[in-house]
Amino acid sequence: MKILVINGPNINMLGIREPNIYGKQTFSDLLTLIHDTARELDIEVEQYQSNHEGLIVDKIQQAYGNVDGIVINPAAYTHTSIAILDALKAVQIPAVEVHISDVDSRESFRSISYAGLACFKTISGQGINGYRQALLLLVSHLSNT
Ligand code: DQA
Repeated sequence: MKILVINGPNINMLGIREPNIYGKQTFSDLLTLIHDTARELDIEVEQYQSNHEGLIVDKIQQAYGNVDGIVINPAAYTHTSIAILDALKAVQIPAVEVHISDVDSRESFRSISYAGLACFKTISGQGINGYRQALLLLVSHLSNT
């Protein structure tokens, strides 16, 4: 089983950016968590981070026929990008949306998620542990389909 984990803009700044909102754990800590969870679940995980909307669209398109599931935190593009929503709809790969912060308790513009419309589950406000939960959920979903 192969899972693609996609992170959008500024997620590479974890640990530096607004630690009161996103926590003190770094992007490197997140990559370690993803790696360790993949080992535990005995699955292959590819990690991709980009600050560019079109590159994220390209990555989702390239996943077609190559990966079984997607975990995606589109970051700020969550609230703006119909292109990422359309890419997820195009490839029809089961996807889980993750947000490190609790987006629903923040500014009202953050409660709109376009990408989330193409995901079967959203995990929000669990810190970086949300990625682990998303991987567990996705693997259980894929194992039952
Ligand atoms: C985020 C929430 C978004 O609103 C924000 O733009 C981000 C990160 C999160 O993980 O909590 O960059 O997706």
